[in-house]
Amino acid sequence: MKNRSLVSITDYTKEEILEILHLAADFEANPNQKILKGRVIATLFFEPSTRTRLSFETAVNRLRGRIVGFSDAMTSSSVKGESLHDTIRMVANYADAIVMRHPLEGAARYASEISPVPIVNAGDGANQHPSQTLLDLYSILKTQGTLENLKICLVGDLKYGRTVHSLIMAMAHFNPTFRFIAPDELKMPDEYKLFCKKHNIPYEETTELAGNFDDADILYITRVQKERFLDMLEFERVKNTYTLKNDMLANSKPNLKILHPLPRVNEIDPDVDINPKAYYFQQAQNGMYVRQAIISKVLNL
Ligand code: CP
Repeated sequence: MKNRSLVSITDYTKEEILEILHLAADFEANPNQKILKGRVIATLFFEPSTRTRLSFETAVNRLRGRIVGFSDAMTSSSVKGESLHDTIRMVANYADAIVMRHPLEGAARYASEISPVPIVNAGDGANQHPSQTLLDLYSILKTQGTLENLKICLVGDLKYGRTVHSLIMAMAHFNPTFRFIAPDELKMPDEYKLFCKKHNIPYEETTELAGNFDDADILYITRVQKERFLDMLEFERVKNTYTLKNDMLANSKPNLKILHPLPRVNEIDPDVDINPKAYYFQQAQNGMYVRQAIISKVLNL
């Protein structure tokens, strides 16, 4: 039987992505169901989280499932030296599926290879964050009415931001055009630019934010990922490179929506929150429905 884990967004075909988005719309219309009655889902967060963990747990609670797990690895036996291998083997004895966030790139793939129950990657280092990508796609579809032929500006920490890496790969199915806006230190890594070239996805790069998104349908802003920097002086140099302000939106397209995976630090001025083009809080809410769809799919319900 095919392993039903969701580790990378590339684990899903275009049809499976669209199936999740369709399912999410069903859950948004009817979020309180009993389809997880008698099931237990484990949430293992080796790194901090607010939205991903709480929206997965709310998703499960609304479907009448039970949650076990930890939000801080310091309260788990990993501090005594237990390996990820043994942790996964243990938790798989207790739960029907495991949602895991881990700082090491590849940790979720490794877990999926040794786990008898499905693994859902809730973020592995700077690598992938596929459930975020699916909620981003759902938010784009809801606000634009289509995923096809959109111009998307990705802004901020394009080097360490796993959400933008997953989003590029997912959008490859939908004929996008990208503009990458980042300081030189945080440019989009070559592997994702090569991915674009291989999939005939046009992209441009610039270091300036103001005036460079007037033709965009989606402005996707990211936080500078402090926790990934080895050199804190470099973080200090780049941490406040961009702050989106309301007046910068004056010439933007009427359909523009501003997305951000959150948490936000200084990238978006709070004044933007009341602009109808700001969509990041609704985007986070969409995560709950999308994660209901993901749990439903990995459990084959
Ligand atoms: N978007 C996101 O992953 O947020 P959290 O780190 O709060 O889960």
